[in-house]
Amino acid sequence: MADFETHEFDVLVIGAGGAGLRAAIESAVLGQRTAIVCKSLLGKAHTVMAEGGIAAALSNVYSEDNWRVHFRDTMRGGKMLNNWRMAQLHAQEAPDRVRELEEWGALFDRTEDGRILQRDFGGHRYARLAHVGDRTGLEMIRTLQQRLVALGVDVFQELTVTRLLTDGDRIAGAVGYWRDSGRLVLFRAKAVVLATGGLGKIWAITSNSWEGTGDGHALAMYAGADMIDMEFVQFHPTGMVWPPSVRGILVTEGVRGDGGTLRNQSGERFMFRYIPPMFAAETADSEEEADRWYDDRQHARRTPDLLPRDEVARAINAEVRAGRGSPHGGVFLDIASRRPAEYIKRRLPSMYHQFKELAGVDITREPMEVGPTCHYAMGGMRVDAETGASNVAGLYGAGEVTGGMHGSNRLGGNSLSDLVVFGRRAGMGAAQHAAGLQAVPALDSSQASACDESMEAPFRGDGKENPYTLHRELQDLMQVNVGIIRTDSDMRAALAGIAGLRERATRVKVEGGAAYNPGWHLAIDLGHMLTVAEAATRSALERKESRGGHTRDDFPNASGEFAKVNVVVRRAADGAFSVSQESLPAMPAELQRLFEED
Ligand code: FUM
Repeated sequence: MADFETHEFDVLVIGAGGAGLRAAIESAVLGQRTAIVCKSLLGKAHTVMAEGGIAAALSNVYSEDNWRVHFRDTMRGGKMLNNWRMAQLHAQEAPDRVRELEEWGALFDRTEDGRILQRDFGGHRYARLAHVGDRTGLEMIRTLQQRLVALGVDVFQELTVTRLLTDGDRIAGAVGYWRDSGRLVLFRAKAVVLATGGLGKIWAITSNSWEGTGDGHALAMYAGADMIDMEFVQFHPTGMVWPPSVRGILVTEGVRGDGGTLRNQSGERFMFRYIPPMFAAETADSEEEADRWYDDRQHARRTPDLLPRDEVARAINAEVRAGRGSPHGGVFLDIASRRPAEYIKRRLPSMYHQFKELAGVDITREPMEVGPTCHYAMGGMRVDAETGASNVAGLYGAGEVTGGMHGSNRLGGNSLSDLVVFGRRAGMGAAQHAAGLQAVPALDSSQASACDESMEAPFRGDGKENPYTLHRELQDLMQVNVGIIRTDSDMRAALAGIAGLRERATRVKVEGGAAYNPGWHLAIDLGHMLTVAEAATRSALERKESRGGHTRDDFPNASGEFAKVNVVVRRAADGAFSVSQESLPAMPAELQRLFEED
């Protein structure tokens, strides 16, 4: 067995975005020896891509807002497939988590009378996103990181975890490697919190950066955790489309929240043609009415530019497919003709610089070209709402790596609040679990040796496959066959393609040594991506309907048969997947009443 650098903690948190940081803070505050591991540099997390704000019913801008309205919006946005208890806890606790961030130093934008300002976002009935210009995720990470460091939590940066270790059917730690040296690291721990974020790099057009390879989703499956809702992948309606080098980079929904409108190549505000019955009562159906709402925000019916993301992404996709798109295959997003330059630069400074520097477009004068980009996974490890516990003893999760909270489609701004609400809860759950154990579970050294061997495999043998080529082929396969619009035959083609890529991946060869070798890192990540791609595709085949972030041409409507069903995926030790349908937990009557008017 290789010479592992070994560490021992009570609680090991994997991932240092908002969920991981918040979990580690809670565990440390509860007195557990806590470490946090991140694949990138500390502070570089996809959390910063939630630019426009954190959703919480603070009622600072609209006194009518409260947790019940937020809960209702979240459930409707998720097409009622959310775990109701998670959605309830989220709506109830988000305001306290925002105020806590403020106490810890986050500098939110202000109302004129000095309270935390809130902006409009899609699917939220009231303006409820606390924000810091269009850099909210960044400010949140900065704040949490500072708190973490002050608490003295051990930080392992640029360290990639490749497997969780188990002692029988409970968690015993994790194995990983330092990215700079390739040296193997073994963590023994009483509890592990997965907070690894998303999987956007499995698709060709994505807002995610290189870290988003679904590692945590794969680690959970290898350890025997149940996965739910893997078919639901969010394509954020507005990513950059031009130039090609920046395709997919996020254009915050805050642009539409602050007055931006979507137009097709003939200048038509096409969203009026795509208002679904579920949202008809609350959506303006003429430009005049939408503009009145934009101007005074007092009118009840909001602009259709701010329908939930699944609706807007599908509408943009349909316009482009009908030949009404912009020159580079997107649509136009116009804020220049609606707001003064000073307002745009103050409210959306990052967007202004992003378009100026990356595309040579001045958004205070010209429209942006935008199109859907793979942004977020609604599906992931099934966890207990109160504690973040999975079905594997000692394994906890929070944030994007978990499923349930957002149902079939997440509302913008609900991710940042999810991270801090459930990051705290998972940190607490893991700390309590660790406190109940006398000793760190036993280490099965054969598991660590097996990891070592599989990680070394790309250096051995005489295979000729290149990890970059295989990754690109996987991304194209998923983009085309398991993208915004899906069919049975396309998804079967994807499964066949994944099987072919998996076979070729056994012949991946990387040159050089273990130090600073991104080709080797990608070869390791590729195994995770193939596992997650297969789980998502098998789930998508099972759900024979269209709902939220899962649209099928062959089953274009939502179906009563699937209305209260989670698709659950499990991976056996030999790599075989099983897929089943399981009923959602039933919602209590007092919460059901909130939907009666629908
Ligand atoms: O559009 C955005 O600013 C993204 C926010 C989110 O994903 O929650």
